[in-house]
Amino acid sequence: MRIRGLWAEGWRNLEPLALVPGAHLSVLFGDNGQGKTNVLEAAYYLAALRSFRTTHAEDLIRRGEPAGRARLRAEVEHRGLERRFEIELGPTGRQARLDGKSVRGTAAALGAVSVVLFVPEDLLLSRAAPAARRRFLDLAIFNVERSYYDEASAFQKVLRNRNALLRQGSSDPALLDTYDEELARTGARVVMRRRALVTALEPRFADHFRALHGDLPVSLVYRSDPDVEAAADEAELELALVRGLSSRRAIDVRRRFTGFGPQVDDLEIGFSGALARSHASQGQLRSLMLALKLAELTHVEARLGDPPVLLLDDVPSELDPVRRGLLFEVISKLDCQTLISVTEREIVPALSDRCDFFVRAGKVVAHP
Ligand SMILES: Nc1ncnc2c1ncn2[C@@H]1O[C@H](COP(=O)(O)OP(=O)(O)OP(=O)(O)O)[C@@H](O)[C@H]1O
Ligand SMILES: [Mg+2]
Repeated sequence: MRIRGLWAEGWRNLEPLALVPGAHLSVLFGDNGQGKTNVLEAAYYLAALRSFRTTHAEDLIRRGEPAGRARLRAEVEHRGLERRFEIELGPTGRQARLDGKSVRGTAAALGAVSVVLFVPEDLLLSRAAPAARRRFLDLAIFNVERSYYDEASAFQKVLRNRNALLRQGSSDPALLDTYDEELARTGARVVMRRRALVTALEPRFADHFRALHGDLPVSLVYRSDPDVEAAADEAELELALVRGLSSRRAIDVRRRFTGFGPQVDDLEIGFSGALARSHASQGQLRSLMLALKLAELTHVEARLGDPPVLLLDDVPSELDPVRRGLLFEVISKLDCQTLISVTEREIVPALSDRCDFFVRAGKVVAHP
């Protein structure tokens, strides 16, 4: 996939933006606080319909913008097809249009643009809270499985409702039975999807890690409750989840929240037969996380039949020269369009037809 053009108006601190990125590597450089990440955030928003920095749409709209509105537009080419995708954020919410036609619902609007985002925090994922790793998995699935958005939302909705009931101190058995069944049904789907992703990522993860660090054994395991892990298919999963929920119900009622299910699962990263986060060195952990991110990138490429657009926010500056070199080797081999933000543009290698853009006070200008 290639972004042919990216436009933004009323977005963060950006002056009206009309960016024609290079087919391969584009480097956005400039001092801190000038708007580099804001450009990547605009591209990311068009792909994910959310920001990676805020959950409040007001933050995204330029302060003092008279109309209180932001507009984004991307023209993308995917397997020979050209499409135009637009989003408007404003006081009345969000509207999306694909080739001029209005698109309703988040699930339908996802996938017009495909990106893989890599931010410095990703390098710390193995030591982050489990929620961050579940989020990594879920976002990687949304990227290739559009229907997963509705599936995951359905699960979250039942979970919220069950937790709201528990918070009120209610232990109504009939109502909880209904919630448990729904939670098990929607939860089984979520677990199936996450397991499938982890299975697909693991060999890629191992290959990338080998290229970085040599032949040390690594593993990726999707961790659930042992009874849930023993379930082989979706029907068995549903049964294991419903049983687990019912046997732990008294605890949930006492604690007033749901402590069992996919919302407490984790992605376990193994290294040399132990847990990476407690056994790998800092440098090894960074290589592991870089390998995981590259696995996501090559997985999305394989599933879409076309590499996604890669957005690297400040990542090259966080990597040592060896790891940086490997990252760029993979990028150029995959031939994926890449947008990078850095303060020091010298650290990005001169790959073929690299385009540089200088960013200052929200203005983005091509730099020869
Ligand atoms: N809604 C908004 N309206 C106007 N300006 C905003 C808005 N949100 C953020 N900004 C401004 O955008 C600038 C930050 O931009 P950005 O995060 O893209 O910087 P950057 O170039 O990536 O910097 P760094 O190198 O430090 O990461 C800040 O000056 C901030 O005040
Ligand atoms: Mg930045």
